[in-house]
Amino acid sequence: MSALRLGVLVSGSGSNLQAILDKCASGELPAAVTVVVSDKADAFALERAARARVSAVHINRKDFESAASFNEEIARILIEHGVELVIMAGYMRLLGKEVLDAFPNRVFNLHPALLPSFPGAHGIVDALDFGVKVTGVTVHFASDVFDDGPIILQEAVPVNDDDNEESLAARIHAAEHCVLPQAIKLFAEGRLAIEGRRVRVLPEKDKSVIP
Ligand code: GRF
Repeated sequence: MSALRLGVLVSGSGSNLQAILDKCASGELPAAVTVVVSDKADAFALERAARARVSAVHINRKDFESAASFNEEIARILIEHGVELVIMAGYMRLLGKEVLDAFPNRVFNLHPALLPSFPGAHGIVDALDFGVKVTGVTVHFASDVFDDGPIILQEAVPVNDDDNEESLAARIHAAEHCVLPQAIKLFAEGRLAIEGRRVRVLPEKDKSVIP
């Protein structure tokens, strides 16, 4: 199987990017990150990409007249790098239709809660403040609505009585670092079938490619 070419969109620390890079390097993931795109100049994720000798691009929304032209440039960069699957790993903006249309059913988003609960930028603390006993992580196909789109994988993470934001975030991130690569692997193996809002994970023997 040839390596699936990944483009990773980031805004921050990039610990999920690192998990992907490590699993690609170890051969656990039949994929390769070909470009990392950040909307923040100081995102540590850019440093991680550089260390892994992966193209790292900063693109500033303020340099573009419109959200559409900004997203067109993101799509152009991804296409230029031959990307087959786009991963939003801590990318804190709504992705424009310019990118979604260029990669239909080929954009994943990662969210640190069990969607549709606690969408938005503060999924971890919102779950903690609400007092839920179980939260978790979600990987889903991105759509033009924040934290929406067919769900690929979810994993539950219990909330302990003595949790604070830091301790809960640490367990959520640990879960993300497993679930996101797992979802990418399923895609690489052609085992994700989208049926309306539902995503069926095909057994290994029934491999098929998403149209
Ligand atoms: C993750 O918790 C992700 O779910 C959220 O932003 C965080 C990014 O973390 N959207 P990192 O940059 O991968 O460390």
